[in-house]
Amino acid sequence: MSRILLSGGAGYIGSHTAVELLNEGFEVVIADNLYNAEKSVIDRIEEITGKSVTFYEIDVCDKSAVDALLDKENIDAVIHFAGYKAVGESVQKPLMYYRNNIDATLTLLESMKEHNVKRFIFSSSATVYGPFNAIPYVETMKIGDCTSPYGTTKLMIEKILDDVAATDKELSVVSLRYFNPIGAHPSGLIGEKPSGIPNNLMPYITQTAKGIRECLTVFGDDYDTPDGTCIRDYIHVVDLAKGHVAALKYALNHAGSTPINLGSGKGTSVFELIKTFERVNNIKLNYKVGPRRDGDIAAFYADAALAKKLLNWETHQTLEDSCRDSWNWECKNK
Ligand code: UFG
Repeated sequence: MSRILLSGGAGYIGSHTAVELLNEGFEVVIADNLYNAEKSVIDRIEEITGKSVTFYEIDVCDKSAVDALLDKENIDAVIHFAGYKAVGESVQKPLMYYRNNIDATLTLLESMKEHNVKRFIFSSSATVYGPFNAIPYVETMKIGDCTSPYGTTKLMIEKILDDVAATDKELSVVSLRYFNPIGAHPSGLIGEKPSGIPNNLMPYITQTAKGIRECLTVFGDDYDTPDGTCIRDYIHVVDLAKGHVAALKYALNHAGSTPINLGSGKGTSVFELIKTFERVNNIKLNYKVGPRRDGDIAAFYADAALAKKLLNWETHQTLEDSCRDSWNWECKNK
């Protein structure tokens, strides 16, 4: 049995991954400073799985705290979710983003080296492909030209991981490039909890449906796409979480640094997502079309072949599942 450290494991993707790891018989240790998460999430992970989690309320930028954790716990692999993630905020506060996201990664890697921990799974993002690549995005493409400091931290960390793996032949690193995670655990016990006004589409939809927001604005309907709205590759967070379990199993048996897309391989427009949400949940959404949002790319989705080939992983949840589970979570948790 392996014991896995999840940095940022109380967050949206981390908590769902904790559930899937526990379901597969892994032991889970979570380190989270609760900057953007709540302690009650730990209890809910335990409630869903009937298994216990070891929790450390620490900041993974704090080297002595990470050292103390790795001294005590017998960790076999680290899945690193911790980091700031708001694209717009990162443009306003670049130093905060570079300091925190890079520092957290370096601190974990240094402490892992001292404690002989050789497996690292990193939360990367499709944003590393930048605005100039053709779609679908393939892992062999040149990455860069990220449109925000947030995206650049993901790019820089992938580069750091490549360099570190090149000098340590026992080290195994997988950078998972997430597309657009939506949905929630079907129990309605864990899900995405944005602080303040949501930036992302699905939480804005559910909050509008609930009446917390008056009206959803669709950011532009004059893109060069079939219905004029932007196209993204939405992936159910439970599928995404299972992708981490598959990546971890891969990392247990392969050295080197490997980037892998986690997406469905299918593109969905903003209008399609809104219509699916309305149909599945039998709700009429109040929305209007507004101007384009700065920095948005018209369309992108994943080439999901490498994940299938290396990890034997692919998505199983539908857009309908995601819309139903996001709404169930919104209704149960306000
Ligand atoms: N959108 C709206 N109205 C809203 C919010 C979003 O129309 O109120 C649209 C956006 O214009 C976009 C789509 O919905 O076309 C998805 O937007 P999100 O903000 O949910 O997601 P993004 O694709 O912009 O962002 C995602 C990840 C980031 C990542 C970024 C770039 O959330 O982490 O992709 O790859 F950096």
